[in-house]
Amino acid sequence: MDLFEYQARDIFEKHGVPVLGGVVATTPEEAREGAEKLGGGTVVVKAQVKTGGRGKAGGVKLAHSPEETAQKAEEILGMDIKGHTVHRVMIAQGAKIAEEYYFSVLLDRSNRNYLAMCSVEGGMEIEQLAVERPEALAKVAVDPIVGIDAAKAAEIVETAGFAEELKAPVAAVIQKLWTVFKAEDATLVEVNPLVRTEDGEIVALDGKVTLDENAAFRHPDHEALEDKAAADPLEAKAKENDLNYVKLDGAVGIIGNGAGLVMSTLDVVAYAGEKHGGVKPANFLDIGGGANAQVMAAGLDVILNDEQVKAVFVNVFGGITACDEVAKGIVGALDLLGDAATKPLVVRLDGNNVDLGRQILQERNHPLVTLADTMDGGADKAAELANA
Ligand SMILES: Nc1ncnc2c1ncn2[C@@H]1O[C@H](COP(=O)(O)OP(=O)(O)OP(=O)(O)O)[C@@H](O)[C@H]1O
Ligand SMILES: [Mg+2]
Repeated sequence: MDLFEYQARDIFEKHGVPVLGGVVATTPEEAREGAEKLGGGTVVVKAQVKTGGRGKAGGVKLAHSPEETAQKAEEILGMDIKGHTVHRVMIAQGAKIAEEYYFSVLLDRSNRNYLAMCSVEGGMEIEQLAVERPEALAKVAVDPIVGIDAAKAAEIVETAGFAEELKAPVAAVIQKLWTVFKAEDATLVEVNPLVRTEDGEIVALDGKVTLDENAAFRHPDHEALEDKAAADPLEAKAKENDLNYVKLDGAVGIIGNGAGLVMSTLDVVAYAGEKHGGVKPANFLDIGGGANAQVMAAGLDVILNDEQVKAVFVNVFGGITACDEVAKGIVGALDLLGDAATKPLVVRLDGNNVDLGRQILQERNHPLVTLADTMDGGADKAAELANA
């Protein structure tokens, strides 16, 4: 889960990372009050959207009075930045910047490790710097067991080429940022810019944090950080039912058990779709191992509510999951939906209790359900029906 900058700022503050005052506002009036709360001096009005390049898009503006703050907020609220509408701004205390640096630490999946990146040339051109002069961006591997201790922080500032007198204060902030990364179970903590102010303070002026949702059980407080308004309603519904669901943009709804089977089902459906008008999978939905009728019904409910879905392919290989439970779930969901169920379902069952499962579906003999013998056959039929 990606956080907004103001949420990252709060988390930084909680762990002792030096930040400036910041207040969130959703209207120009609130922005004015925010500026007053911060003392009425110079502030920066910053668009709160979960994408980079806000500054370049005109989403970061300086204001010298509460009046001007309200004006700038008015300009920024409602702005579209790379497809994200600005609903909130943060009013941040203005910093007198002497220099801008860059620091990030992230999960480095390909090397099964953590990676710290740091540069004395931070700021809005960092992406360009990374491409044109990669040597100016220090990359230091971080052992997950050791983390960024004093020695690692010293190595990072050394590699980045900080001036002698800056090494200790910057390293201290980097260690604090590691505390954020570790204590909050983040997969990314990025600060751009990390600045030196004219008073010689090192301050994090911008923050990007991604939290690892797999660790959510350790952080009951993280749920409050979710942007519920922005969540896809179908994904939210799936989440409520503990289903692993990802919305895609095709027309064939897919339900399977086990991530591997569902992934390959997406492939065979996409392949079969080539012969049927190019139809594609509408989603990924894994009901998991040991799913019962209720879970199956919840999954169908999510998929049948997707307007883009024209046909559904249920592909279950019963291991721990018993096919009769799956069949009961399908029958139960269809009966519950009654006339509201209008989309054809292709069902391929195999494995544990397959005969009983097929028997349940045959006896119910629902007009929308077609039984398929094989995965390829089922994919083909579902693609055909979705294209009809
Ligand atoms: N509180 C502040 N006081 C003074 N200047 C600021 C402040 N916050 C940001 N700036 C200036 O604005 C620039 C852009 O701000 P920021 O880094 O927050 O946005 P951005 O980099 O454009 O967004 P993103 O990191 O999402 O691409 C900074 O590099 C800095 O020069
Ligand atoms: Mg930035």
